[in-house]
Amino acid sequence: MPNLGFGIDIGGSGIKGAVVDVETGLLTTERLKLPTPQPSVPDAVAKVVVELVQHFGWQGPLGCTFPAVVQNGVARTAANVDQSWIGTNIEAVMGTATGLPVTAVNDADAAGVAEVKWGAAKDVEGLVIMVTLGTGIGTALFYNGTLIPNSELGHIELDGGDYEPKASGAAREREQLSWEKWARRLQRYFSALEFLLRPTLFVVGGGVSRRSEKFLPLLVLDARIVPAKFQNEAGIAGVAFMAAEAAATRSKASQRA
Ligand code: BGC
Repeated sequence: MPNLGFGIDIGGSGIKGAVVDVETGLLTTERLKLPTPQPSVPDAVAKVVVELVQHFGWQGPLGCTFPAVVQNGVARTAANVDQSWIGTNIEAVMGTATGLPVTAVNDADAAGVAEVKWGAAKDVEGLVIMVTLGTGIGTALFYNGTLIPNSELGHIELDGGDYEPKASGAAREREQLSWEKWARRLQRYFSALEFLLRPTLFVVGGGVSRRSEKFLPLLVLDARIVPAKFQNEAGIAGVAFMAAEAAATRSKASQRA
C-alpha cells in the first residue's frame, strides 16, 4: 500500500489537485484543474479547494501551495492573487473550509522540494535554484538539499523594473513572443541570477517546462540548467509530501506529550 498524501496547487489562473504517493512523488490519480475564481478572494478560493477535496474524497493532511510569501501559514504578499490575501492565514481558512489539517507553503518552494527529493535536483550539492515560469516567476533556493524558504527572485529589478512581467510564461503568451525572443529575456534573467548567486544548478518548472527543448538550449550559462522532472506537477507532489511530514511530526509530538 503506497503512503498517500494530497496536494493542491493554488495559482493565479488555475487550482489543481491530485492524490500523491508521498514516497515517490508520483501522482496516483489524474490531476483535476479548476479555474481560479475572479476575484480570487479567500472565500471563493476556499470553495474551489473544498470542491477538489470532495471530488477525490480525500480525508487526511492537506497540502496547499500558494503563489506568495507564506510564513507560518500566513500569506505575506499577493502578486497574482487578490490583495485581501495579505495577512490571511491560509491554513486556517482552508482548515475551516475542509475540516482537514492544512499545510500551506509558497508554490515554488513546494515544487523545489519535489525536485530535490525525487527529481532533477536529487543529490545535487551546493546551491540549486528552482525557477517556475508561469503566471508569475517563482523561485526556490536549496543549499545542499536544505530549503531556504520564500525567496522572491522572480521580482528582481532589471532594466528599470520588476522583471516578472517581462520574462514569465504569461508574458510570452500575452506578447506572443517567439521562443527566440522570450529566450533573450530569459537569458538576461538567468545571467543576473547567476551573477548574484552562482548556483550549481538551475531547475526550470511551470507549465512551459513541458516544452523546455524550445528554449533551454538557447540559454548560455556556466551553471547547468535542466527542466523539472515533475514539470507542472512538482508543486502538488512537494506540498503533499510536506503536509504528510507535518502530520507525522505533529503525531510524534502528541505521543510524547
Ligand atoms: C510571487 C511568488 C510566486 C510566483 C509563482 C510571484 O509573483 O511573488 O511568491 O512563487 O509568483 O507563482
